[in-house]
Amino acid sequence: MSISGKKILIAISGGIAAYKIHFLIRDFVKKGAEVQVIMTPDAEQFVTKLSISTLSKKPVYTDFYSDNGTWNSHVELALWADVMIVAPCTANTLSKMVHGMCDNLVIATYMSAKCPVFIAPAMDLDMYMHPSTRKNLEMAESFGHVVIPAESGELASGLIGQGRMAEPETISNTIDHFFNSHQEAQTLQGKVVLITAGPTYEALDPVRFIGNHSSGKMGFSLAEEASKRGAKVILISGPTAQTINDKNVELHKITSAKEMLAKVFEFYDTIDIGIASAAVADYAPKEVAKEKIKKNDENLTLELVKNPDILKTMGEKKTHQFLVGFALETQNEEDNAKGKLEKKNLDMIVLNSLRDEGAGFKNDTNKIKIFTRTEKKEFDLKSKDEVAKDILNFVEAQLLK
Ligand code: PMT
Repeated sequence: MSISGKKILIAISGGIAAYKIHFLIRDFVKKGAEVQVIMTPDAEQFVTKLSISTLSKKPVYTDFYSDNGTWNSHVELALWADVMIVAPCTANTLSKMVHGMCDNLVIATYMSAKCPVFIAPAMDLDMYMHPSTRKNLEMAESFGHVVIPAESGELASGLIGQGRMAEPETISNTIDHFFNSHQEAQTLQGKVVLITAGPTYEALDPVRFIGNHSSGKMGFSLAEEASKRGAKVILISGPTAQTINDKNVELHKITSAKEMLAKVFEFYDTIDIGIASAAVADYAPKEVAKEKIKKNDENLTLELVKNPDILKTMGEKKTHQFLVGFALETQNEEDNAKGKLEKKNLDMIVLNSLRDEGAGFKNDTNKIKIFTRTEKKEFDLKSKDEVAKDILNFVEAQLLK
């Protein structure tokens, strides 16, 4: 996938390296990309809107409102972009980004962005090495952003060291590389894929719940992969630490099985493919205590009631949807998985067994077998990202039949 035709949002913050952005814009435009520039108010001290808009061929925005009274929607700008590049990114803008201090158009747009974000820091060497900057860059990376490290050399202050913004050529190559490595065929273009992920928590009282060890990794890997293949993804997840920053993925967070069921059926009629990777609690406490349950007796008996079986309900109401279930088993694995395929009216089931080392909950890896009514395919232990590819390859092959 080349950079041509891509929508690149560049956010300039107030540093002397801003002058280099002219070269970056020219390079992107030459390669056929669409470039939209936004700037912090301080960036205007270093470059003019006129020079930038002349090169980008689009108006440049610095505020939520233009002089003619029109609103510059940060949400629209953010959703428009295939990638966002913050360059130069000053210590101030970096800090606002990672701490959510939303006091200008650049930060509001950044906080609305679902696309991959690239950060090219530029500051004096002591600022660049300061523990707060180090921590902020680490946080940015933990959000999934790509930091294009500052380079060493003579700085505007006259000091020599690391802090110069990466050269426009380096930034441009990074973006080229990003698009080339995402050269996935758009095999799910036009399809809507619904994925359930993570555990559900069933409240016992205001502080306790019944849950399980699902991390959500398997479901989030599936969501990312389906999005890379061009699908619109509705990801319905129980409580997990997983994050996703992808404009094709609509993330809905729920807590309990009943909430997951309700959310699934908000979208069910509109989806083409449903994949249930969530580990839904089969039972929930009959009553949720209003106050914290006190420790009085030696034994505590809880009455549990059956939760709705979300996937079974999806199977019962299936009209055109291709349904994929998971089976997490500890014994009689294959028979149980095939039983669930029938009972829940699925098209395909993915078996993972807790008896296989590295498979199932929490791990970054999984080992699966896939069953349809007529086929069986066994896969090696792989990363969950790779497993997601195997599953979607199998789904696509079934859809072509
Ligand atoms: O989240 P990770 O840490 O990455 O772990 C991934 C995983 C192990 C959770 C995942 O690979 C997996 O196996 N998910 C299904 C777990 C499970 O609940 O399996 P099950 O055999 O109990 O359920 C069968 C199917 O029915 C599943 O698709 C499940 O989502 C669905 N189900 C189950 C019960 C229920 N009340 N509603 C459901 O929709």
